[in-house]
Amino acid sequence: MASLENPFVFGEIIDDVNFVDRTAELKQLVRDLADGQKVFLLSPRRFGKSSLVALALLKLKKRHIHTVSLTVSSYSSYAQFLEKFAEKVLRAAGPWDRVKDWATRFARQVKPDVNLNLGTGEISLSLGKGAAFDPAPIAPDVFALPGELTRNAGFRMAICLDEFQQISQFDSGSVENAIRNQVQEQREVGYVFAGSQPSLMQEMLSAKRPFHKAGPQMFLDKIPAQDWRDFITGHFRKRGRALDDPGLATLLASADLIPYDVQRIAHELWDYAELNDKRQLDGSDVNRVLDSLVSGQSTYYELLWEQLSARQRAALQALAYRGASEIYAQVVREEFRLGPASSVQRALQSLDARDILDRYQGNYFFLDPLFPCWIRKKGA
Ligand SMILES: Nc1ncnc2c1ncn2[C@@H]1O[C@H](COP(=O)(O)OP(=O)(O)OP(=O)(O)O)[C@@H](O)[C@H]1O
Ligand SMILES: [Mg+2]
Repeated sequence: MASLENPFVFGEIIDDVNFVDRTAELKQLVRDLADGQKVFLLSPRRFGKSSLVALALLKLKKRHIHTVSLTVSSYSSYAQFLEKFAEKVLRAAGPWDRVKDWATRFARQVKPDVNLNLGTGEISLSLGKGAAFDPAPIAPDVFALPGELTRNAGFRMAICLDEFQQISQFDSGSVENAIRNQVQEQREVGYVFAGSQPSLMQEMLSAKRPFHKAGPQMFLDKIPAQDWRDFITGHFRKRGRALDDPGLATLLASADLIPYDVQRIAHELWDYAELNDKRQLDGSDVNRVLDSLVSGQSTYYELLWEQLSARQRAALQALAYRGASEIYAQVVREEFRLGPASSVQRALQSLDARDILDRYQGNYFFLDPLFPCWIRKKGA
């Protein structure tokens, strides 16, 4: 049998054909962005925000909407972020003839801090240099750019700012104001602000902050088990292999239905089946794959564990063995020597702050679902 490329992809943006579910969310996001709405997309890490946005932008592009995507956390300074923002917006608005007038005007306006490389179409932009350079005064001009370019120009734009919760690290507050003030004027431009720390994003959207009620919020859920089942068995079937129901259930449960981890475990299981040329896969095969994944991470888990306090460890053990819904129950607190409910809560909060746990639908969960597997293995 000729070897087939592994169809399970993790840690990358998912392409159109391997995109599971999310039809309603995709439709909604495309519609909102085409309408020029400012959408806030929230979920814990690795639930699939970036993949969803990438597909939405692709669909918008097919409808001749000009698209721009920036990951806020990729830039080390406010100035660099502004440069890239302007550069990408200019590029998306291009061709050069269309943006030339604006670019020249912009250069004149904010001189001498802006140098535009007015080459033949390749737009590169450099704002003031040096650590002392304060980009805040020209930020409104930069954020006004999409509006300026689309006004009366006969085209629309859709802009994604991913990892948006990181924006506040650029400066305290004024950047949020600057963006909010500009984008609300831009009727031809849809924005999606995607953030992977829901608590930070929610803070940003709270009353008294600039983005309060700036646009609809979209909470991304996990992808339902049934959609994953169809997707996974479908791919294995195409390869002449079958994974039985208990095996599938083990895979989905150990991934805690987190999209990244479902794909990761399925990816490893695929490689395992290829390597061993196994046609019938079951729970024991999934467990073997899980064991090897957990062992591969054990040095890291060991180190992490050593850094935790006794209370934090106990809380994690209780969570790993009993799950989130029972963690405050007296029997569980006694069994794991957790102390009063208030100290359990403090331990959980501190683990959330360390990005070991996060919250989903009101309950704490492990951001890395293999970590509780390691904890259980260790305690066995
Ligand atoms: N709709 C989907 N169909 C199939 N796999 C998906 C889907 N969404 C996400 N995934 C899987 O989850 C992984 C992580 O997705 P993505 O990077 O889009 O999440 P994210 O929420 O942006 O994560 P982060 O918060 O870390 O930026 C993808 O690489 C892919 O393996
Ligand atoms: Mg992302």
